[in-house]
Amino acid sequence: MKALEGVKILDFTHVQSGPTCTQLLAWFGADVIKVERPGVGDATRKQLVDVPGADSLYFTMLNHNKRSITLNTKNETGKEVLTRLIKECDVLVENFAPGALDRMGFGWEAIQKLNPRMIMASVKGFGPGKYEDCKVYENVAQCAGGSASTTGFLDGPPVVTGAQIGDSGTGLHLALGIVTALFQRERSGRGQKVLAPMQDGVLNLCRVKLRDQQRLAAGPLKEYSQFGEGIPFGEATPRAGNDSGGGQPGRILKCKGWENDPNAYTYFITQAAVWEKICDVIGEPEWKTRPGYATPPERLDKLNEIFDRIEQWTMTKTKFEVMDICNPLDIPVGPILSMKEIMEDEGLQKTGTIVKVPHPERGDYYTVGCPIKMSDSPVEVTRSPLLGEHTLEILKDVLGYDGEDLARVTESGAVGELKQAAE
Ligand code: COA
Repeated sequence: MKALEGVKILDFTHVQSGPTCTQLLAWFGADVIKVERPGVGDATRKQLVDVPGADSLYFTMLNHNKRSITLNTKNETGKEVLTRLIKECDVLVENFAPGALDRMGFGWEAIQKLNPRMIMASVKGFGPGKYEDCKVYENVAQCAGGSASTTGFLDGPPVVTGAQIGDSGTGLHLALGIVTALFQRERSGRGQKVLAPMQDGVLNLCRVKLRDQQRLAAGPLKEYSQFGEGIPFGEATPRAGNDSGGGQPGRILKCKGWENDPNAYTYFITQAAVWEKICDVIGEPEWKTRPGYATPPERLDKLNEIFDRIEQWTMTKTKFEVMDICNPLDIPVGPILSMKEIMEDEGLQKTGTIVKVPHPERGDYYTVGCPIKMSDSPVEVTRSPLLGEHTLEILKDVLGYDGEDLARVTESGAVGELKQAAE
């Protein structure tokens, strides 16, 4: 048995933010029924196509373990089918542009009337306020949520990060909201509306930067490199390059082979507790007692010199050798792993975090499996559905359409072309 077995999710999500949420719920055992426009489907099916004619990796990697029904929700019979789906399901998840569900005739009030136990969960770009009507994508959220202004180097422009904290990050927030609402429904018997705005989700992940914003009132941020370099602080949390976010100074340093390999680097943290071991490893044992070097506050104005010296040492080792030497000494380091290295990592494949998935149109591909491991609810990653692959199955098994009724619905054009489920 899986944790969310028996929970039915009406999945109206598209692109990335919503689909990451419903994919997690599917991995935890929910029956996720993805509703897509007949003949069109989620736009990502045909975005960044690498195998002509097949669903893209963009789509397949975000929609595992789901079923797909095609349904035109603007068609009268389509509205009838949607009404029945709303009555059958526990949760409706959507990340349409603001107002789209209302325009369809299925806003929160209408849904509550149809199914008072339903949880209606939405991703929007912004919460209520002056930007609530905006359409929003990943990088807009990173900029509006405080990530871009605090990422990058002091002397450069704001930078967006490769981690999809606006889309996938908000999907995670929404998933937590949904299971929490399901838990509350156990006691209240009522559904509720769950909203995860992307700006808020990004800001939640940038919490330490708002911490630093307020610390500025008490003086310069001493753990930032710019303090040691004598550069004055302005009014807002500055960009801190690769400085460590906590109180322990850290940097990205070159390793052996950096001239030709863009990822031959390591992260190196000069944690105070292991300072003496660091001094021994890099061949500067006298720094352990030398005035100006022995304690963390004394070292703050010498961080560039100290990290230059450590880098002289890391440049004589590969990033993995640095890891092998420092790990047993409790010196916190981390190799900069490329996506190629991660995809081929045997450890991650063993734990199911990197998974090879067979697909009838595109052959085998790699994906990121469930990053949350539960001892009583194991995850088996299955491929994403083809467009409308389960329309007939859902109409019959979930909604009980049969005989004349089924013929009426299919002839109305509301559900598009019916397909038999592929192997
Ligand atoms: N049958 C009939 N119509 C359907 C349908 C279906 N099964 N599914 C969707 N539609 C319609 C919608 O009702 C909407 O119509 P309307 O504008 O006439 O009301 C239309 O398709 C387009 O939906 P929309 O969400 O506006 O798509 P978009 O491509 O224009 O915008 C986003 C995409 C992502 C910018 C927008 O959905 C958005 O801002 N979402 C919230 C924030 C978000 O999740 N952003 C991150 C995406 S990773």
